Amino acid sequence: MEEIDKDNLPKHIAITMDGNGRWAKTKGKLRVFGHKNGVKAVRDTVEGAAEIGIKYLTLYAFSTENWNRPEKEVNALMTLLVSAINKETKTLMDNNIRLSAIGDIEKLPSKAQTELQEAIEKTKDNTRMTLVLALSYSSRWEILNAVRNIIKDGKKAEEINETTFQQYLTTKSVPDPELLIRTSGEYRISNFLLWQIAYSELYFTDTLWPDFRRTDLYKAILNYQNRERRFGKTTEQLQK
Ligand code: IPE
Ligand code: IPE
Ligand code: MG
Repeated sequence: MEEIDKDNLPKHIAITMDGNGRWAKTKGKLRVFGHKNGVKAVRDTVEGAAEIGIKYLTLYAFSTENWNRPEKEVNALMTLLVSAINKETKTLMDNNIRLSAIGDIEKLPSKAQTELQEAIEKTKDNTRMTLVLALSYSSRWEILNAVRNIIKDGKKAEEINETTFQQYLTTKSVPDPELLIRTSGEYRISNFLLWQIAYSELYFTDTLWPDFRRTDLYKAILNYQNRERRFGKTTEQLQK
């Protein structure tokens, strides 16, 4: 933590929390056991991010494609979501963290929607960090939704530029992530923030999500700080 340059922190970090099932398997347990232990990793990462001064943390918790998992696992994940939000609202309040959510929230069971809305309402005045949960989220769903709403609003072709398009995304009030982390050694995006990660730095780690802790987050931030973000320019131009 001491090695991190506090003046060069990413404002927004996004994480694809992957590997719960494999973590459970190595322990000879059911996949749900992995998801349950994933909650501990969420708590430590969220606290660690707020502590170091990250302003936005987006966690990919459930994708549109995850609805295709066995019904038992989906139900267990939804139950876990309800209990985790319920239990962790206190952690959010103690740490001055605001909760928000992106995704097709209406697809969630009504109990989960209510729990989520309550926590969002309760934490809405918190200012240290915004925690964004991506739930029933997929980037293609988000982009298509944006296009539909642009058409519904009767926008003219000439009015559409990157700034106006961004206003139609679920992330409209959040800056693009400078850093995207994926755990469990999978090197893919899985329909996450396709528009927003145009220039994000990608960081992959073999650590399975339930083992991920704030020290792993800090390692990723340090790695990020040692990169040169050129945005199409040359190194020489950046040194001027
Ligand atoms: C991530 O872990 C959690 C969710 C996608 C909900 P997985 O459940 O994908 O675990 P693996 O990838 O099968 O190990
Ligand atoms: C991506 O993980 C979605 C979440 C972490 C919520 P998956 O484990 O579902 O991704 P794929 O399908 O293996 O790419
Ligand atoms: Mg997975």
